Formats: sequence, C-alpha cells, structure tokens
Amino acid sequence: MTQSTVLGVGHYLPSRVVTNADLAQLMNTTDEWITQRTGIKERRFIEHSGIGASDLAVPAARMACEHAGIEPRQIDAIIFATLSPDYFFPGSGCLLADKLALPGIPALDVRNQCSGFLYGLSVADAWIRSGVYRHVLLVGAEVHSTGLDFSDRGRDVAVLFGDGAGAAIIGPESEEGRGVHSIRLHADGSGARELWAEAPSSANAPERVSVQMLEEGRQYPRMNGKYVFRWATEKMPEVALEVLGDAGLSVDDVHLFVPHQANMRINQLVANRLRIPEEKTMHNIQKYGNTTAATIPIALSEAWR
Ligand SMILES: CC(C)(COP(=O)(O)OP(=O)(O)OC[C@H]1O[C@@H](n2cnc3c(N)ncnc32)[C@H](O)[C@@H]1OP(=O)(O)O)[C@@H](O)C(=O)NCCC(=O)NCCS
Repeated sequence: MTQSTVLGVGHYLPSRVVTNADLAQLMNTTDEWITQRTGIKERRFIEHSGIGASDLAVPAARMACEHAGIEPRQIDAIIFATLSPDYFFPGSGCLLADKLALPGIPALDVRNQCSGFLYGLSVADAWIRSGVYRHVLLVGAEVHSTGLDFSDRGRDVAVLFGDGAGAAIIGPESEEGRGVHSIRLHADGSGARELWAEAPSSANAPERVSVQMLEEGRQYPRMNGKYVFRWATEKMPEVALEVLGDAGLSVDDVHLFVPHQANMRINQLVANRLRIPEEKTMHNIQKYGNTTAATIPIALSEAWR
C-alpha cells in the first residue's frame, strides 16, 4: 500500500501586527503578564472586515502547491480545518474550492479546533493510502479576531489568539521509510465546557442566539485556563510517545519537534517531559499567538523555509 507524505507546505499571515501593548490599550493587561504566562509578544489580525478563514487560506494553498511542484488544478480534494469558518454553513472548504477555481472537487470541513490539522491529516492519509485521491489540499485557517471579547471580562482568552492560515499538499510517497508514519487521535467530550463558545447554539430555542446571550458575552470563547494547561501538558507527551512507539522510533531519532502553538510554557514543559532539547523544538507563538488549526501547518512551513 502507498504511504502518504507532505509534498509541500505554505502559510499566510495578515499584515496587521497587534502587540501586547496594543491589547493593553483595550483591556486591563500588560506585556509582562502575557509574555510571562504565554510567551506571546504579538499576533496578526485581519486588516478589515470581509476577510474570512477561506480568504486567508488562498495564498497559503497557492504557496503549498508551488512548494509541492503542482498546479492548483491538480488538487483532487480539499480538507479545511477551522473553528472560525466563514459561515455556519456552507463549509469554508467549499468556499476555498471556488476561490481556487476548482469546481466539482470534494471539500470537507473538519471542526476539531487545535487538533483539526491532525484529524485532517488522518483523513488525507487514508485517502492517499487507499488510492482514492492523489493530491489532497489540507488547510488550517482561522480568523479569531472578530470573535474575541476585548473587554476586561475576556482578557484571559483574548490575549492568546491570532489570525492566520497554513496549508499542506498531501500525496503519495514511494520511498520506503519516508512519509507519515503514525497518527493517533483521541477525544473526550466530558471536558467540553472547559473551553467552548456556547452561542450560537442549535439547542437554544426559539433562536440560536438571543440579545441577552450577546449581552452576557456567551458568543465568545470561555476557558478554564488551568484545566486546559494541565490537560495539554499531560496528554501531549502521552500521545507523542504513542506515535513514536507505533513508528518504532525513540525521542533521540527526532530531528524537529513541532508542537501545536497554544502557549510557549506548555510547549517547553512538554518538550522537557519528552527530553527533547530546546534547539529541536519549533516555536513561533511569540509572533502569531495561537492560530488554532493553523499553528501546525504555519510552523511546518516556517520550519521548512
Ligand atoms: C490562560 C493562562 C495563560 C492563564 O495563566 P494562569 O497562570 O492560569 O493565570 P490565572 O488564570 O490563574 O490568572 C491569574 C490572574 O491573572 C488575571 N488575568 C487573567 N487574564 C489576564 C490578562 N490578560 N492580563 C492580566 N491579568 C490577567 C486573572 O484574573 C487572575 O487574577 P486574580 O489572581 O486576581 O484572580 C494559562 O492558564 C494557560 O495558558 N492555559 C492554557 C491555555 C491554552 O492553551 N488554551 C488552549 C487554547 S487551544
């Protein structure tokens, strides 16, 4: 059976730089607080209204195609990972297909937040290995800046996130021992309300969001930061050891560790627990904050370059 591999990577960040000092103008926070707890110094926000996740994905996708040495028309399918889709429906993958002038190809949205890129990779890997498709465009893209509470009420969450897009072309690999070795996916819905955006909700009658909900800020993400921190620093090393075990590799075989970029302290702790040295660990959260489904492909693309 054919293996899958990453044939090319690309990324795109909006040009508008928002520093910690800029956020301190909007809410009661400081550069020192944000830097000490998260490592974030600045993030990017879209320049103006009217730019959605699928718009950020277009240049990232083109860059990934160029790196892979293919034309966009050679893409057979799109997988689009995002928690901030352009619309409730249709999916951002369909919008991206249209913007890349690829009518008729299948487009699938993946809604698995920070792990969305890995869930998407597992689908792309299965499609490639089974020979269903040859070139899968896998995108992670987010516009967070239009969905954050920039008042004091939301300061614990608003300082963490940024906008951006990353993309990869996944295709077949003929050389033995190269390509995607192992992917392990897990989920646990019992913790759903530790990090969530409640509204709009299909369960909320008679309308999915009410004026009262908006006034209470229930459309914004809310997070139990300490819970998420503990969970991430326990589970990331566990699953990293699972995939290394599957692949018959040890930590010493790792040349570059590219973790999801949620918090520099989480990544340092995880690297430390895995005994991966600092110089082998990829960080770019200081420049972009947490771009959720986009952090891994952006980091891969920057690491490649
Ligand atoms: C969010 C996070 C940085 C907060 O760090 P923390 O050390 O847990 O901080 P706490 O929540 O205990 O807050 C400490 C104090 O800072 C305050 N605070 C919260 N946000 C603040 C901000 N932006 N600026 C200044 N003070 C802030 C809190 O109100 C609290 O004040 P109090 O002690 O008077 O109540 C940390 O919990 C974290 O990184 N969690 C994981 C986040 C994550 O990875 N999310 C996943 C996204 S996918």
